[in-house]
Amino acid sequence: MDVLNLKDKNIVVMGVANERSIAWGAAKKLLEVGANVIFTYRKDRSKAKIEKLLEDYKEKKTAVIQCDVNSDESIQTAFGQIGEQFGVIHGIVHSVAFAHAEDLKNRFVETSREGFAFALDTSAYSLIAVTRAARPFMTEGGSIVTMSYLGAERVLEGYNVMGVAKAALEASVRYLAADLGKEGIRVNAISAGAIRTLAAKGVPSFNEALHRYEEVSPLKRNTNKEEVGDMTVVLLSDLSRGVTGETVYVDSGYHIMG
Ligand SMILES: NC(=O)c1ccc[n+]([C@@H]2O[C@H](COP(=O)([O-])OP(=O)(O)OC[C@H]3O[C@@H](n4cnc5c(N)ncnc54)[C@H](O)[C@@H]3O)[C@@H](O)[C@H]2O)c1
Repeated sequence: MDVLNLKDKNIVVMGVANERSIAWGAAKKLLEVGANVIFTYRKDRSKAKIEKLLEDYKEKKTAVIQCDVNSDESIQTAFGQIGEQFGVIHGIVHSVAFAHAEDLKNRFVETSREGFAFALDTSAYSLIAVTRAARPFMTEGGSIVTMSYLGAERVLEGYNVMGVAKAALEASVRYLAADLGKEGIRVNAISAGAIRTLAAKGVPSFNEALHRYEEVSPLKRNTNKEEVGDMTVVLLSDLSRGVTGETVYVDSGYHIMG
């Protein structure tokens, strides 16, 4: 019995920059369970990396399409292309975030108006814009999953404006879930533990965070993109059909500790 019901389903995966990306953890598992995966990227460098990664999956139905989430025009063009090529979209993995380096290094009080707007636009508003563009093609209902971090709720050193962006992202998940539930579209977030990726390099206290997870978390270890990828697949699949508006923690249990 196919409990996942993801075989031949069309899933858009946004945010694979390289083989370390959390989005790649999800994409690999999606390809293994028989989904068609449509990758979106911002930089040509990422396109080349994705194409290289897909050399091991030549028999699968995939596509690689440019999408800069800071631009409505780029989002429209990308989802227009995806709709034309695939017809129906069944799911989206939104694994995209960015903030200016100085807004993570400086004191939080120094956050500029522009830096605040840019981080929230890229990392939180983009989920709303992408959902709006995908909706006309989500005619069979579907599931949307985004990536958050504990900095949304707690003050984590050096996470600064990105924490505010993740708080907005998690609230957007709840409002989108409430709005789109009647169309059979579910929206959830995964709050992932610390994972060494390109984006993580921008967070000054990242190495300390990795050590803290090993010391403090109930499982006494860090999580990885495969574990986050597996939960992403669960949230995209029929197994989670009763779950929406939720933030699920894949962090070795770290967030429960005092
Ligand atoms: N690595 C961690 O420790 C960790 C923990 C919790 C949550 N997250 C979240 O996971 C998500 C994925 O990050 P990652 O750690 O895999 O790093 P990553 O650098 O591999 O992925 C981030 C992606 O965002 C994309 N991106 C940035 N600006 C964009 C734009 N304007 N348009 C389109 N794409 C854009 C980048 O191209 C990149 O592919 C992010 O939302 C991040 O905040 C990461």
